[in-house]
Amino acid sequence: MPREIPNDHPSLDLKKSLEFVFSNLEKGVTERGHHFHLLSLGTIDKDNRPQNRNVVLRKVDMANSLIRFHTDIRSNKIIDIKNNSSISLLGYDKANKLQIRLTANATVEESKEVLSNVWSKMYPMSRECYRVKDAPGKVVASREEVLFEDEGDDKLNGLENFVIINCHISSIETLFLHSAGHVRAKYIYENGAFHGEWLVP
Ligand SMILES: Cc1cc2nc3c(=O)[nH]c(=O)nc-3n(C[C@H](O)[C@H](O)[C@H](O)COP(=O)(O)O)c2cc1C
Repeated sequence: MPREIPNDHPSLDLKKSLEFVFSNLEKGVTERGHHFHLLSLGTIDKDNRPQNRNVVLRKVDMANSLIRFHTDIRSNKIIDIKNNSSISLLGYDKANKLQIRLTANATVEESKEVLSNVWSKMYPMSRECYRVKDAPGKVVASREEVLFEDEGDDKLNGLENFVIINCHISSIETLFLHSAGHVRAKYIYENGAFHGEWLVP
């Protein structure tokens, strides 16, 4: 096992390291098998308890420090976010031995045009999730009570429950695992740019 980190490894340079993170996050959007396709979303619930769940990464925009995921407007995570918009996102890219920890401010996408546009491009199976009649997380006496609306002639049934969450990233922490010594850094987003610094791993 090599005991030295190769000189050209992205983790050794703060700028390259951040670009590497974003290029892998972009792969996470388009490649279903990529480890960053799923991120663990952390919110704080109304009882001030942390809650985590997996979400699929849908969009990444480094220039605007933004990432997006999709969800149901009736879900508990939305209640959490409306109560406290501070969220965290966690990912581990096993292939690159790279952990990322993001802090962000979550907002619900308001544009009906953006929502309809994304909806029209979604797989029918993905749209079906939003046609469940009761709110996700509701207690039911039996599974037979879980009912779905049909898709409708215009295929718009469920759109009223579909929402995009914009995560405005405020910081990114990276940890690259190396046998020769782990490399950790933190980037703060301020005045339209990320400013990085090294941390003790
Ligand atoms: C592989 C996987 C991908 C998921 N992707 C999403 C997603 O993109 N959006 C979402 O709302 N829930 C997604 N879920 C379900 C959530 O993890 C969670 O169970 C659900 O949204 C209810 O969470 P809540 O009650 O905290 O709102 C996914 C679950 C798994 C296992």
